[in-house]
Amino acid sequence: MGKALCSSLVFICFFIPLVSANWNILTQKTHGGLMISLKNYCEGWRINVELHNIRDFEVVPEECTEYIGKYMRSTQYKVDSERAIEESLIYLSTSCNLKKDGEDAWIFDIDDTLLSTVPYYKDNLYGGKKLNVTDFEDWIKKGKAPALDYSLKFFNDLKSRGIQVILISSRREYLRSFTTDNLVNVGYHGWAGLILRDPADELISVAKYKSDVRKQLIKNGYRIWGIIGDQYSSFEGTPSSTRGFKLPNPLYYIA
Ligand SMILES: *[C@@H]1O[C@H](CO)[C@@H](O)[C@H](O)[C@H]1NC(C)=O
Repeated sequence: MGKALCSSLVFICFFIPLVSANWNILTQKTHGGLMISLKNYCEGWRINVELHNIRDFEVVPEECTEYIGKYMRSTQYKVDSERAIEESLIYLSTSCNLKKDGEDAWIFDIDDTLLSTVPYYKDNLYGGKKLNVTDFEDWIKKGKAPALDYSLKFFNDLKSRGIQVILISSRREYLRSFTTDNLVNVGYHGWAGLILRDPADELISVAKYKSDVRKQLIKNGYRIWGIIGDQYSSFEGTPSSTRGFKLPNPLYYIA
C-alpha cells in the first residue's frame, strides 16, 4: 500500500511538469493513456470545478485561461446559465407550496449571479494572475457590471409571485451605494434585503457568513425556498434552503 502510493505520487510529480511543458503540442496523454487536446483538458478542468471536485483554486490554470475566457463569452455559457434558471422555475412551479404571506423568500448572490464580472476578468484573467482585490473593488465602484438577463427575468418573476428577494453578497459593506446604484441602473429593484459583509464577517469564511445570515432570516420568520448562486459557499452549511441552484462560474473560487 505504502509502496503503491509512493510510486503513484512519483508518477504524478513526474507527469505534471511534462504536460505543462508540452501543451503547445496538439495532443497529450492523460494518466489513463487517453490522447486528448488542450480543449479536452480544459473542459475537464471546467466541469470538475462545477462538480465541486476541484476546490480552492486561486487562479484558472494558465494553459486554460484562453479556453475559460472563451467559454465565459460563449453561447454555451448563456445556455448553461439559462438552463439553471429554467430548472429553478420548474422547481418553483411544481414543488413550492408558497404561503404568499410575505415570508416566502429566495436568495441571490450578486457577482456572476445578478451582475456579470466578465468585463473585469476579461482584462485581468490572462497570465494566471491572482485577483487583485483593490483593482477589483475599484472596478465595482464604477458600477458598470452588466445584468445577467436570465437572472433579471427570474428576479422579476419571483417578485411577481410575491416572493421576497434577498441578496446576500460577499461584497464588503462599504460598497453598498455603488452596488445599489449598479443593480438599479441595470434593472434590478424591489429587493427585500441586501446583505453585505461587515468587517467582522471578513474574519470568517464566506460560507459561514452566508449561513449565519440565513439563520437570522429564518429567525425573522422567512421561509427560504431556494438559493441561486455561482459559488458552493452560497449553499453550504446550515440552515440549508430547500434547493440550491448553481450557476456556472469557472473564473474564481470563494470558500
Ligand atoms: C493591486 O493593484 C494596485 C493598483 O493597480 C497596486 O498598487 C497593488 O500593488 C496591487 N496589489 C497586488 C497584491 O498586486
